[in-house]
Amino acid sequence: MKLPDGPKSSPTMQLIRWIADPLAFLDSCAERYGDTFTLNLRNFEPLVFLSHPQAIQEIFTADPKLFDSGRGNKIVKPLVGENSLLLLDGARHAAQRRLMMPPFHGERMHSYSQLMCEIAEQVASQWNVGKPICIRAQMQEITLQVIVQTVFGLREGVRYQQLIPLLSAMLNMTDSPLSSSLLFFRFLQKDLGAWSPWGRFVGRRQQIYELLQAEIDERRERSQLQGNDVLTLMMSARDELGQPMTDAELKDELMTLLFAGHETTATALAWAFYWIHQRPSIYQKLVQELDSLGENPEPIAIAKLPYLTAVCQETLRIYPVIFFAFPRVTKAPMQVMGRQYDTNTTLFPCIYLTHHREDIYPEPNQFKPERFLDRQFSPYEYLPFGGSNRRCVGFALAQMEMKLVLASILSRYQLTLADTKPVKPQRRGFTVSPEGGVRMMVIGQRSPSERVSVGTASTSTQ
Ligand code: HEM
Repeated sequence: MKLPDGPKSSPTMQLIRWIADPLAFLDSCAERYGDTFTLNLRNFEPLVFLSHPQAIQEIFTADPKLFDSGRGNKIVKPLVGENSLLLLDGARHAAQRRLMMPPFHGERMHSYSQLMCEIAEQVASQWNVGKPICIRAQMQEITLQVIVQTVFGLREGVRYQQLIPLLSAMLNMTDSPLSSSLLFFRFLQKDLGAWSPWGRFVGRRQQIYELLQAEIDERRERSQLQGNDVLTLMMSARDELGQPMTDAELKDELMTLLFAGHETTATALAWAFYWIHQRPSIYQKLVQELDSLGENPEPIAIAKLPYLTAVCQETLRIYPVIFFAFPRVTKAPMQVMGRQYDTNTTLFPCIYLTHHREDIYPEPNQFKPERFLDRQFSPYEYLPFGGSNRRCVGFALAQMEMKLVLASILSRYQLTLADTKPVKPQRRGFTVSPEGGVRMMVIGQRSPSERVSVGTASTSTQ
């Protein structure tokens, strides 16, 4: 069956545009070809991008057995390993997912809220008035500590101290379009020793896996597997034959959560700080809402604030950190919006293009939190966390974390953007992030009478 039209340039040229400036490439394709088009990127099967809410609905509500995603995600294998949830399909995917979801939702997740506030306050307490900071890097420090704590229940110790900088260094290796090429061109993936980019990548990955193995061994020796953390749960789990997860499986799932669970939230927070400080009216409204809760509000009260919620939603609308959902590779011939697709067609629900439709979001390039107060959007119009059986495992944790970190910092510190130039989205590995990381400055602390103390007053940084 003929696939929808798309750019006629060579697959190499298309791949270069996809790496160098993916959002501009998607915009230009949507303008020329409409809701549905096919990209031919070098080394990839043809990829059909869809952004009409009806198409997204048809895909997200179809029987998940009709699609594979894991086999279309091979590109992330060097980062997370072959046993990662991201690469699994079918029954194995469903079983691992069931195991990994609960700690990031409901009661268990709420037990982390105090910790999120404390970590945010501790990181912000290192900032000096008048000295520029890179907000993205600072947010990464917070989100990395949060995910390490939720996954391992670890907050201190030598292993923890080693893991944090190694994970950051590994991710920072792909912080620009040029360095991200490493992930897309297999010929660059050659380990030519510690001085070569791939050699350094492999070396760091090896060190991280050794630390993960040491943690697993130690837990096993201590034998009483108790606790709320994900590693404990995964080590106690047994499959239908009564078998535990192998060490290789455990390590790949830990790596998956460590990566998927902090890089994205850090970038979303950096964008949120940028948008909030770009428009004084948004800042004023938000701070007023936070102050209205008075001293020591409960994290749950913060999470329910309507304007704060709308600011976070609009942040994830305008530049969704992951700008397309995982591929849905058809396992049987199927129709989407009346168009027939053969078996083994790769369909990509395009989050960014759906979020930029004029018919749903007038003036889509403007940051307007009010849109989320004025109306509700369906899960096929607004989908920053994807949908169906692949919907983001950490969607509740990420939203809670965004709100609590923003509230903790904005209620204590007055910040300003260090540069007045508009910040553009730039590829960072598989995500889009603010170019330059958003440079900001603390210009003062908010006086105790003005500020809301989030969580507990005893952790005050003043
Ligand atoms: C603002 C932050 C985040 C955003 C925007 C985001 C977005 C996404 C998206 C778009 C997907 C693909 C969904 C699909 O194809 O339908 C995904 C999958 C996933 N996310 Fe997130 N995510 C975020 C934070 C997190 C956090 C905090 C965690 C871990 C606690 C996490 C873990 C995962 C995992 C494990 C998957 C794979 C799910 C599967 O294959 O079944 N993410 N995320």
